[in-house]
Amino acid sequence: MIIWSVETSCDETALAVVEASGGLKNPKFAVLESVVSSQIAVHRPFGGVVPNLAKREHLKNLPLLLEKLSAKGLDIRKADLLAVTIGPGLEPALWTGVNFAKELAKKYKKPLLGVNHLEGHIFSFLLSSGARRAKPSEVFPAAALLVSGGHTLILKMKSLTEWKRMGETRDDAVGEAYDKVARLLDFPYPGGPEIEKAAGAGSASVFFPRPMLDQKNYDFSFSGLKTAVLYYLRDHPAKTEKERNDVAASFQEAAVEVLVKKTVRAAADAEAKSIILSGGVAANKRLRAELKKAARKEKIKFFAPEMRFNTDNAAMIGVAAYIAKLRGKKRRISAQANLII
Ligand code: KG4
Ligand code: ZN
Repeated sequence: MIIWSVETSCDETALAVVEASGGLKNPKFAVLESVVSSQIAVHRPFGGVVPNLAKREHLKNLPLLLEKLSAKGLDIRKADLLAVTIGPGLEPALWTGVNFAKELAKKYKKPLLGVNHLEGHIFSFLLSSGARRAKPSEVFPAAALLVSGGHTLILKMKSLTEWKRMGETRDDAVGEAYDKVARLLDFPYPGGPEIEKAAGAGSASVFFPRPMLDQKNYDFSFSGLKTAVLYYLRDHPAKTEKERNDVAASFQEAAVEVLVKKTVRAAADAEAKSIILSGGVAANKRLRAELKKAARKEKIKFFAPEMRFNTDNAAMIGVAAYIAKLRGKKRRISAQANLII
């Protein structure tokens, strides 16, 4: 089945064409094309995403990306299904994608499926060579850690179709904490990759608290960690590059330790055969390496998407659409349908 997908929930405009096969028992995906138009330069002067600017950029970029796919020889008339992210996300941004997808569906007479952005991230691990080789019996049950700019949660997944939430952040998402700490250190937006780079050049010489690490639940609190960095910087202003790098490394160490230890505990509780990592913060090499190492120590498998599918993209929306379609989820968007968030 050929799926064309659209993603505009935040500040990346993305289209993808995915070929899906194998059914729910053994789903396999080939990404025929995935194109992303980043708006980082547009939002950077504001230090964060401005929803109406995001909308304007999506409106401009969607037709350009569609042309790009045609120029690469892909023909939408061959699509079996169209899919679009319907939430959660920034409403003006989401609507541009939904309206664009609806127009395409009408013009080419294709069915259109609405996809939950978080399901997109969760299933993005299927876009990795490890998952392509693995049998479902080697993956599930799994403990899945989703870490993005808007969410931080741990799921117990019994299968691709059955899961429950084990824990989540009680305040800021970890990506948000990365972005806020980056701002405190005068790094540009988005802060995650900047902190990672600075941390790589620094040493974790400052001890920041590990919020909720010792509590017997799977919840997180990253706002407290960000505040600890704020107070530290108030008392010890980071004047040199080395001081900034050390604070970045120390913050990252605290965040990664809490994420890894809680996920490993959740995996033990879930009797998981694997740990699955996804979301924009999954692009962080330190987090990937530490979680992989911890999984190996527990003798369980570790899956994370190929690097380009961690941050927002439309290929993961195509993957989630295939699974949602096989589950028979009723999220078909009719011409009159409202946005389901
Ligand atoms: O999944 P995503 O692209 O968008 C949301 O659904 O939120 O995640 C974006 C988040 C941002 O907070 C960004 O700073 C963070 O992911 N991020 C990173 C890295 N790359 C992106 N955080 C830490 N290290 C990175 N390398
Ligand atoms: Zn996302």
